Amino acid sequence: MGKYIIEGGKPLKGNVSISGAKNAAVAIIPAIILSDEPCIIENVPEIRDIKIIFNILKNLGASINKLEENTYEIDCTKINSTSCSHEYTSQMRASYYFIGALLSKYGEAHIAMPGGCKLGERPIDQHIKGFEALGAEVEIVDGIVSAKAEELKGKNIFLDIVSVGATMNIMLAAVKAKGITVIENAAKEPHVVDLANFLNQMGAKIKGAGTDKITITGVSKLKGVRYPVCPDQIEAGTYMVMAAITKGDITLNNVTTKHLEPITAKLKEMNIGIEETADSIRVFYKEPFSAVNIKTMPYPGFPTDMQPIITTLLGLARGESRVIESIFTDRFLYVNELLKTGAKLEINAKNDRAVITGVASYKGADLCATDLRAGAAMMCAALAAEGTSEISNIHYIERGYENVVEKITALGGSIKRTED
Ligand code: EPU
Repeated sequence: MGKYIIEGGKPLKGNVSISGAKNAAVAIIPAIILSDEPCIIENVPEIRDIKIIFNILKNLGASINKLEENTYEIDCTKINSTSCSHEYTSQMRASYYFIGALLSKYGEAHIAMPGGCKLGERPIDQHIKGFEALGAEVEIVDGIVSAKAEELKGKNIFLDIVSVGATMNIMLAAVKAKGITVIENAAKEPHVVDLANFLNQMGAKIKGAGTDKITITGVSKLKGVRYPVCPDQIEAGTYMVMAAITKGDITLNNVTTKHLEPITAKLKEMNIGIEETADSIRVFYKEPFSAVNIKTMPYPGFPTDMQPIITTLLGLARGESRVIESIFTDRFLYVNELLKTGAKLEINAKNDRAVITGVASYKGADLCATDLRAGAAMMCAALAAEGTSEISNIHYIERGYENVVEKITALGGSIKRTED
């Protein structure tokens, strides 16, 4: 089990290139199962979650060939099983996309209940509701989800809640279904649009991705394509906060500035310097930043994945901030860790809101990454803190941040990875 040792107090300065989006790549790669030919995917982030997805695919009979860093040729035409390795599927949330893709292509799928970060209740009832509406039979026995269908037929599906995973999974299942599927109350996140663009390039007929009504006309064949994964909104947001919290000046390249608007708007409101071009954004410290109030919402609202990270920044703002978490029921688990740095914040009994009183500085501490984004928040705190911090449980961070040690080091930060 590795640890990061971070010596804080150094302003991060320079350029950083943002990697491909984890939450787009983890859907796009299983979606290749639908293609009748191999695909080449570019801008694939080299992170642990992608390695798990590759292992699941290889166990199904797919072949994966690394053409160069971040570019893979993936051939799913010789898949010989519809049962995913339980060891891998239970390790991550996105393994649920194998249900939609295998069901669509082969009429059945078997996977262990998806794992992932512990953020409170994370049911998959909306995914199942969608598959059943399309004509599948789904059962969960001893933690194994099995879905089967003689034939999938298009249907109108109204999601009870806005779910990124259910929207994308139903899209995968519906791509080859007979007739027209309409997903209403659909998620609008950038990765929903990226998956739809990829499927459309392969020959799917999907309209409306990025709005709350997505219409999918089933097709029988999908062809191989070359496709670059879109830039990671949350990795970008993390480096934006690192620039502000270390009183630094970072230019992020390879970003889609439109996707960053909910984050940019809040940083501007805090008096943090922002300059944008079409595909880059500069974030710089100008003056002590101010407290703001934030409520996490589905896109284009403020992303829940940025909540621990922005809360950590608000801990050093002037005044009192309030943060409401409205997506997940238990996403303040990291607060006990943050308190060790001298941060002042209180969480209500329902565990859905924080009141943060800004302090002048953090001090280095032994911190634990309680999940992926909580781990990113701990890195931000440690980079800003006076003195040295140790961050444990870094396997969470490495699930979603490519070359994080190298990127922070290149920006002038002091971070080392050690093995226990
Ligand atoms: N929900 C249900 N039933 C469902 C599906 C979701 O009740 O069938 C609830 C969830 O419990 C949650 C809300 O709906 O309260 C939203 O969940 P959503 O389905 O949108 O989230 P997810 O698919 O489980 C993805 C990302 C998360 C990100 C959320 C929200 C992936 C692999 N994961 O999760 O990313 O926080 O959307 O944007 O795409 C991360 O990257 O660190 C991460 C946790």
